[in-house]
Amino acid sequence: MIEGKGKIAVLTSGGDAPGMNAAIRAVVRTGITKGYEVYGVRRGYNGILNKEIELMTFQDVSEKLQHGGTFLFTARSAEFNEDAGKQKAAAICKELGIDTLVVIGGDGSFKGARDLSKYGVNIIGIPGTIDLDIAYTDYTIGFDTAVNTAMEAIDRLRETSNSHERCSVVEVMGRSAGYIALWCGIANGAEAILLQEKFDSETDYDRLIHLIRKNREAGMTHQVIINAEGVGHSNSLAKRIEEATGIETRATILGHLQRGGSPTARDRVYASIMGAYAVDIIDQGKKNRLVGYKDDKVYDIDVDEAFQMQKSIDEYQYEVAHILGTRSDYKEQ
Ligand code: F6P
Repeated sequence: MIEGKGKIAVLTSGGDAPGMNAAIRAVVRTGITKGYEVYGVRRGYNGILNKEIELMTFQDVSEKLQHGGTFLFTARSAEFNEDAGKQKAAAICKELGIDTLVVIGGDGSFKGARDLSKYGVNIIGIPGTIDLDIAYTDYTIGFDTAVNTAMEAIDRLRETSNSHERCSVVEVMGRSAGYIALWCGIANGAEAILLQEKFDSETDYDRLIHLIRKNREAGMTHQVIINAEGVGHSNSLAKRIEEATGIETRATILGHLQRGGSPTARDRVYASIMGAYAVDIIDQGKKNRLVGYKDDKVYDIDVDEAFQMQKSIDEYQYEVAHILGTRSDYKEQ
């Protein structure tokens, strides 16, 4: 083994996502194998400010891979959000001799990392969020598990909804992005999907009610409407549907249960590969890069360049969801 290459620290920040542990494990084990000292930072950026930083061994990351959450804990740090907090964090990294900080998190965490890089800390980002809302990458750790968790929950709701001949409004997470909603829309065969990216509150509520009414007239006993968190207001929507159609309607907000659970094979494998790749690019001397997946291949991109990119809902996927779930022969109001 090559010795004494330098110090890498790894942290998780923002909302936890299943598979983060696999990514930490990969950073630690690849780092040690390549001759680095690898430190785990507890509680996100707060852990730097409070110096909650510990040297990790190969053994420290065993029995973590199969668990959801993050064993390093995570946080959204108010102090680090301020410029003074970032300067303080950079000074602490310098004082402790940490050459590179690996940040596993979402967009907000990457913004913090990018700002920190301006104060001389080399940062490498690994995308960890159930929301899939990071433009430069097709894949984010946790999305696959979260979608599968939501899908199973919605299957269950469909059964009770069917027994009672009800309409179910199910709200899934995603912040302002509709990826979980869109995937569940297809995977659960939803009768309608409401996404913030596509939603027009002036017309779409009326269209939805028209659709639900027509579905019932056509003999559909129960219906599942998937509502993205970005659209929200699921309880009032359920009330509105019930009042307008006379169909008993219930709202279910799946909430944080979507963030927990043992990661799927896909989340474990992709997280492991991205964790190892993060160390590979550190070893190649690369600076201030984000790791991601494009066309099913792991790659890295400059952090500033990544922030120039925009992401939008796949139009074809959206169209398919509608064709398969929503009757298109209910044109007239
Ligand atoms: O970003 C992940 C996410 O779960 C979003 O889908 C959701 O909007 C948000 O985090 C919830 O945040 P918190 O855990 O702070 O309530």
